[in-house]
Amino acid sequence: MRWQFAALLGAVFATLGCQGANPPPPPPPPPPADSGVVTARQPDGWDQGVALHSPDDLDAKPDVVELNLTARLSHQVFLPGIATQVWSYNGQVPGPLIRARVGDEVVVHLSNALMQDTLIHWHGVRVPNAMDGTPMVQDPVQPDAGFTYRFRVNDPGLYWYHPHTHSSGQVGFGLYGALLVTDPTEPPLGDDLVLVLSDIGIQKDGGLDPADSDGWFGSYFGREGAQLLVNGRIMPTLVARVGVPQRWRIVNAARSRYMKFRLPSADVFRIGGDRGLIERPLSLTAVELAPGQRVELWVKPKAVITPAATVKWEDSNRFHIAVERESEPMFLWKVVAAEPGQPEASLPAELRPIEALPDAGAKPRIVDFGEGSKAGVGVLTIDGKTTEENQPYLATEGDTEHWTVKNSTPYDHPFHLHGYFFQVKDVDGVARPFPEWSDTVNLPAKKSVRFLVRYEDRPGMWMFHCHILDHADLGMMAMLHVHPKH
Ligand code: C2O
Ligand code: CU
Repeated sequence: MRWQFAALLGAVFATLGCQGANPPPPPPPPPPADSGVVTARQPDGWDQGVALHSPDDLDAKPDVVELNLTARLSHQVFLPGIATQVWSYNGQVPGPLIRARVGDEVVVHLSNALMQDTLIHWHGVRVPNAMDGTPMVQDPVQPDAGFTYRFRVNDPGLYWYHPHTHSSGQVGFGLYGALLVTDPTEPPLGDDLVLVLSDIGIQKDGGLDPADSDGWFGSYFGREGAQLLVNGRIMPTLVARVGVPQRWRIVNAARSRYMKFRLPSADVFRIGGDRGLIERPLSLTAVELAPGQRVELWVKPKAVITPAATVKWEDSNRFHIAVERESEPMFLWKVVAAEPGQPEASLPAELRPIEALPDAGAKPRIVDFGEGSKAGVGVLTIDGKTTEENQPYLATEGDTEHWTVKNSTPYDHPFHLHGYFFQVKDVDGVARPFPEWSDTVNLPAKKSVRFLVRYEDRPGMWMFHCHILDHADLGMMAMLHVHPKH
């Protein structure tokens, strides 16, 4: 796989207009005919150890991506020589990587071959309310039944899909996948790699841990599988070449586990988040993702690493306990030498402008993520009530709101809002360097997060919840009813 180098990059980048909102910018001028630009190559087979499978497009129209997703039991080999029965989309964990271009229509025919009802939620995608895949907007799809999801993707970025009923169990057993929306007008930043991070609990005999599907204790703490997965593999090898950049788009699809790692001997910049590119690259030492979040990285290796180095998962200490947990091996990272005459790759200083939502006229809303007990059993709450007890929170289409989300518990919780992106103003008083679109943000223990959100259109019954899916099951989930404006 080849990509055009810096000379071309400057020219293409200059054509980037404001992409903060619809409609998408006009197409760029065609690239110059073969101008003798020097290219640099990734090592042969660099992504073969991790590449995700993408299904064939069933629709010949260039702007429609159509596919079947069958939720079914299948067997996958994670531990050498042992097959594990997982819950999968099309027999794969993670499910297929759905690739679309900005403006495309995505059509997904879900068939349920499980023994339990299911649904598909399109995390982060601004779908029409009826396509949001929650029990609020559709009847769960029963075994042997199906449902067709149909929506347009207008925001370049990495998104993901997962069930929104029995979600802790179904995601934990393997039902999740990534949806990549690319924008052909973006400058070529590096060779693309999508990484779906997760974990799974496999026992010695190869079976999934039955304790993973129920039990109060596991729910309260949030279940973490013993095995870390990168694109469904245990300890795969990622390969790169000194000086040749890669663009990593990463989603944390684990039901409870926070993901944190450091990449040795490389320049690493954060170039994107939940909704594609951010304004400017930010240099990173550690990459950290709460469940549900995405990050885009620009990775340029600086030195040869052979044999490969072990990159480890590190504890984010979401429980705020005195002793951090041991690091765990996550993937191997191998870097080969530069080629003779290879050009120097660089990253543009500006990626895309993002307009700040105005504070003026924003209506305040305060919600409190907490814990309590019902009949002697611990529950997790929003404003003191569990999901069943809470009435829908009411909002109006077209309004801008200023949310303060408090975390009254001594543990972190990843907050997620359906349907709309928000702009975080500050986390515990620490302001963000520039406006950025998010749909998931970590709420640190005993702290609060403030953000602005505009319900630009698409009224309906949306949800917000903790993305530790066990916590959502224990009550930390509520509805946001956005009424049409009159
Ligand atoms: Cu990732 Cu309510 O979902
Ligand atoms: Cu939580």
